Amino acid sequence: MSLFLHAPGFVLPSAGGGEVSLRDLRGRYAVVYFYPRAGTPGCTQEAAEFQALAAEFAALEARVIGISPDPVPALERFARKRGLGLTLLSDSDRTVARAYGALTPQGRIERSTVLLDRAGVVRWSWRRVKVGGHAAEVLATLRVLHAADEALNPLLVARRAYRALSEEEVPKPALERLVEAAHLAPSCFNNQPWRFVIAHGEALAKVKAALPGGNYWAKRAPAIVALASHRDLDCKLSDNRDYFLFGCGMATGMLMVQATQMGLVAHPIAGYDPLAVKEALGIPAEYVLITLIVVGRPGDPNTLSDKHRELELGPRDRKPLSAVMAWNTFRDLERTEGA
Ligand SMILES: Cc1cc2nc3c(=O)[nH]c(=O)nc-3n(C[C@H](O)[C@H](O)[C@H](O)COP(=O)(O)O)c2cc1C
Repeated sequence: MSLFLHAPGFVLPSAGGGEVSLRDLRGRYAVVYFYPRAGTPGCTQEAAEFQALAAEFAALEARVIGISPDPVPALERFARKRGLGLTLLSDSDRTVARAYGALTPQGRIERSTVLLDRAGVVRWSWRRVKVGGHAAEVLATLRVLHAADEALNPLLVARRAYRALSEEEVPKPALERLVEAAHLAPSCFNNQPWRFVIAHGEALAKVKAALPGGNYWAKRAPAIVALASHRDLDCKLSDNRDYFLFGCGMATGMLMVQATQMGLVAHPIAGYDPLAVKEALGIPAEYVLITLIVVGRPGDPNTLSDKHRELELGPRDRKPLSAVMAWNTFRDLERTEGA
């Protein structure tokens, strides 16, 4: 079974002294396996199989952690007797097992394993584990995950400024979730300069009336999110470094990634009549209406103009990386048209 959840936090005493917390695991993968009792045949075999593959797990940046209700001295005897280099943690009151869903309704440990990624996100889990071959199966899954995580983030690759939209409603909680994601963006001194107004219903009709012909496609959108800010809402540093636009840009990026994860299109546009939109949404005159983000579900490309349909169905267009990235000196950036 696979999951994609934030792992519940824990701090547990470890065989060999000290404590290990979830925080300590960040930056490396963690195979966290729950087992009922050190020294029993099944638990010994499971530990031995993980131990036998220790070098392979380490090569994939993974740490293997066994958690059981055994007291620390029992874990230390187990590790010594079986020559285990794994991290063995004592969860004497079974709270961590409960938090990870590794307890039966009767309170017994259900042999289970979770695979956490380098950010502490649960990416895979196994319930009612059969010991023989389990470690090898976890290793095989880790190998796939590791390779996938070294590639570009699939949500970033999947996101496009799509224009073909369905007129189907997007529920309010989903729209709110998008703004929640945006609101997790970093900002200078944590100033959080973004202000979002979600246009829905009558206000939406007024916003749509402020779109120019070229943005005809946005008129099908079930919601449009306006993003406004003011330069006083964020850091103003020397060299004209006003950071409010930067912060709002990052927030928009987060919103788009969240939308992609939720199967939505979130397409920022600059083409609108700002005075009319500000008036429609009650945005104060001194604020900058930075963008409108057109939100909807993917729709039929046949609703688009020929030019837009071609863009919609065509490959993504990007300058070569060498035009936007250089090592050590700007002078090495490849000059492209318009640079
Ligand atoms: C600030 C900004 C303004 C944009 N304005 C419009 C717009 O008014 N109309 C439109 O159709 N697309 C607009 N776009 C979408 C871009 O054309 C699109 O992001 C770009 O072509 C790259 O394509 P991609 O996002 O699919 O990779 C805008 C994008 C940004 C970030």
